[in-house]
Amino acid sequence: MKTYILATHNRDKIREFTGKLNGLIRLKTLDDFPDLPEVIEDGATLKENAYKKAREIHRFTGLPAIADDTGLEVDALAGAPGVYSSRYAGESASYRDNVIKLLQDLNGLPPEQRTARFRTIIAFADDTEAWDVGASVDGVILTEQKGDGGFGYDPVFYYPPLKKTFSELDIHEKNKISHRGMAIDAFVRELKEKQAI
Ligand code: IMP
Repeated sequence: MKTYILATHNRDKIREFTGKLNGLIRLKTLDDFPDLPEVIEDGATLKENAYKKAREIHRFTGLPAIADDTGLEVDALAGAPGVYSSRYAGESASYRDNVIKLLQDLNGLPPEQRTARFRTIIAFADDTEAWDVGASVDGVILTEQKGDGGFGYDPVFYYPPLKKTFSELDIHEKNKISHRGMAIDAFVRELKEKQAI
C-alpha cells in the first residue's frame, strides 16, 4: 500500500478520512511530522487553501499530499462563514464559539431562510501533478444544537433526508452522505482512474 500524507492536525477530519481510506492507502498526518512549519491558510477560496496546504506539505515531506478545506455556506449570510468557518467567532474561536455566533446571527429567521451547505475541496499534490475534487451537501441550520457526535457545526446542521443533524449520525452514516465523505469517494475514484491504487 502506498503512503500519503493528510495535511492536517485535525483529529475529527483524520477520523473521517481514515474511516473511508482504511485498506486503500496508508495515511500519515502532520502529527507524524511535528517539526514542520505551519501552513498559513490565507487563500480567498477553499480551493486556494486546499492547494496551498497540499503543495507545501508535499514539498516539506516529499510524500504525495492530500489536503481538505471545508466551509459552511449559509444563504442568509451571503455564503458566510465559508472560507472563514474555523475562525467565524474570532482567531482562536472554538467549535462551540462559532456555533453560538452562527445561531446569534440567524436569530429570528424562519426555517426556510436558514438553508446552508457544507462544501469540501480535497486537493492532491505530488512531484508530477496537482488536482482537486469537491462535494457539497445541503441542509438547514437549526435554532439550537442537537446530538453529540461529529464536530464543528454538525450539532446545528440538519439534514432533511434523514431528519437528523449531522451530530445525530454515527461516523459511518455521516461519511456516507456528507460533503467530506462524498469528496473522499470522488478522490478515491480519481486515484483508481489514475491506477494509483
Ligand atoms: P477547515 O478550514 O477545513 O479546517 O475547516 C473549517 C471549519 O469548518 C472547522 O473549524 C469546523 O468548524 C468546520 N467544519 C469542517 N468540516 C466540518 C464538518 O464535517 N462538520 C461540521 N463542521 C465542519
